Amino acid sequence: MNQVLKEKLATYQNRVELGIDQLLPSASTRPERLHAAMRYSMEAGGKRIRPVLMIAASELFPAQADPLAAAVAIECLHTYTLIHDDLPSIDNSDLRRGRPSCHTQFDEATAVLAGDSLLTYAFQLIARHYVNEPALATCLINDLASASGSQHLIGGQMEDIDNEGQPIDADTLRFIHENKTGALLTAALTMGLRFCKPTEQQLEQIEAVGYHIGLTFQIVDDILDATSNPQALGKPVGNDNAAEKSTYIALHGIEGAYTEAKMHTAEALAAAQALGGNNAFLLELISDLEHRIH
Ligand code: IPE
Ligand code: IPE
Ligand code: MG
Ligand code: MG
Ligand code: MG
Repeated sequence: MNQVLKEKLATYQNRVELGIDQLLPSASTRPERLHAAMRYSMEAGGKRIRPVLMIAASELFPAQADPLAAAVAIECLHTYTLIHDDLPSIDNSDLRRGRPSCHTQFDEATAVLAGDSLLTYAFQLIARHYVNEPALATCLINDLASASGSQHLIGGQMEDIDNEGQPIDADTLRFIHENKTGALLTAALTMGLRFCKPTEQQLEQIEAVGYHIGLTFQIVDDILDATSNPQALGKPVGNDNAAEKSTYIALHGIEGAYTEAKMHTAEALAAAQALGGNNAFLLELISDLEHRIH
């Protein structure tokens, strides 16, 4: 990524950080432990890739409103999935974003409730901020609810758990990755494009981008779990292997996983090129995902 785009990325990440700070209830709101836990997980950092992708997609063509509230909303929803993913009954992971996981820092009940609250708050943010654009608000809510629901993100999480310790097959692995991770990344792009009143064809093109970056993103997540370290990653490593998860590494080995990630990146770039518009930043973001180190 060239220097100008790197600075653009940092600017957008900062905009999201500021949006989070301004739009979340303060940590001293009653009940304090609940709101402190919500902010603890939201303010722990994180790459903010979903909100940044959403803003990048909203800038492809002239936009009708500011996407920041929707960008904060998708980060709230994503953070809820991380809090619940780390719970003892799911991945039992005690480190997240370089800090003790929510249930480790607070307690399990608080973590469940902080996650629940972030999930509902995401939809409240969208409904409240786009009240004057009801057609846009409805589309945003539908995109986010569908991507995070039982047939996508949560369905992927269910099969991820169901397949622990099972022999891995390519179809199941694809289902898990496409849904537990790909669906929300796709929603980030689709929701961003909604701000530009897209045509059906443009929506299909951006969904293709999302599908391929979703797979690249989770393949790289699996690679990093097998090859990185907790300091660089901000979360534990080796968990997938220990839990006998269905991963690309288990199916194809590290080299095979890299090959797949490269292939999906090329497909995502081609789809983003076909979509056109003001896509230089989006193209850089897509290329970067394959090479991320945390
Ligand atoms: C982690 O997501 C969970 C996956 C879907 C792989 P991120 O890698 O985007 O985590 P943060 O938001 O940067 O912490
Ligand atoms: C998590 O996948 C996907 C969701 C939270 C929906 P992982 O379990 O691989 O994510 P990490 O590695 O804990 O971040
Ligand atoms: Mg998991
Ligand atoms: Mg996990
Ligand atoms: Mg992982």
